[in-house]
Amino acid sequence: MSKPDILLIGPYPEWDLVELEAQYNVLKLYDASDRNAFVSEHAAEIRAIATRGELGASADLIAALPKLEVISVYGVGYDAVNLDAARARGIRVTNTPDVLTNDVADLGVAMMLVQSRGMIGAETWVRDGSWGTKGLYPLKRRVWGRKAGVLGLGRIGFEVAKRLKGFDMDIAYNDVSEKPYAEGMTFIADPVELARRSDFLFVTLAASAATRHIVSKEVIEALGPEGMLINISRASNIDEDALLAALEAKTIGSAALDVFEGEPQLNPRFLALDNVLVQPHHASGTIETRKAMGKLVRDNLAAHFAGAALPTPVI
Ligand code: 8YV
Repeated sequence: MSKPDILLIGPYPEWDLVELEAQYNVLKLYDASDRNAFVSEHAAEIRAIATRGELGASADLIAALPKLEVISVYGVGYDAVNLDAARARGIRVTNTPDVLTNDVADLGVAMMLVQSRGMIGAETWVRDGSWGTKGLYPLKRRVWGRKAGVLGLGRIGFEVAKRLKGFDMDIAYNDVSEKPYAEGMTFIADPVELARRSDFLFVTLAASAATRHIVSKEVIEALGPEGMLINISRASNIDEDALLAALEAKTIGSAALDVFEGEPQLNPRFLALDNVLVQPHHASGTIETRKAMGKLVRDNLAAHFAGAALPTPVI
């Protein structure tokens, strides 16, 4: 039997590519010089898309593939997949939840520590000789025992909160409803109120049209000149223009961001600021987690082509 054709939207690690190519005829969209022509040329054969969280699959791409049956996302977030277009055609969509939760939470907490204790500047202080010439490094703000807010107490938010308990922090959260598993945490129904009581506000909610700019100008203002915003979800959850204006005016203390509008390009205004920690969307980026994500992508594809139940379906 011939191998099914799958369209790979963006590069995967070599170890995943090798495994995929053993089972499928992998068509690499990212290598094509003319992507539209490439899609048209192979449209009649492509039965699956393998994509990444931030790359997704647009309505136009789905419409261009009449034989498409399944979209397998390497990532927990599927906001970049046009679910309406997939649903309308009975196309299945899968993602990679759970396997990345702990690493994403680790990076969020690490970003809080690095930024609050000024560790990037401290590294420079040693390397450029300032320690010898200027003396002691400027004092920074404490983390332990302070107030944290978690916006979105799903799997990742819960793991962030669990880690923060180890720092004896006073933890509150916001979600669509109170969570029975949120032991020892205060539910706050209004994101603005959550920001007002928080020294550190973690954004950990799955992005959708409904959560767009949930971190609004008002939320950012409520966090205030001593507050820190940490985003390990999607850029669309934050009003980025309002955040940039607040960081420039120092009406918010600082931000630690793993995601940006238009990434991997980002607004150059971020790079002119010393009160923001910028990271290249790598919260799930450990070898262990990425291997597990790649396996789950393949397990979902294999189940689909075997007519079996999908391990982690979105729709
Ligand atoms: C990316 C992510 O998929 O899980 C998600 O939603 O955005 C990430 O894990 C990963 O960076 C690979 O592109």
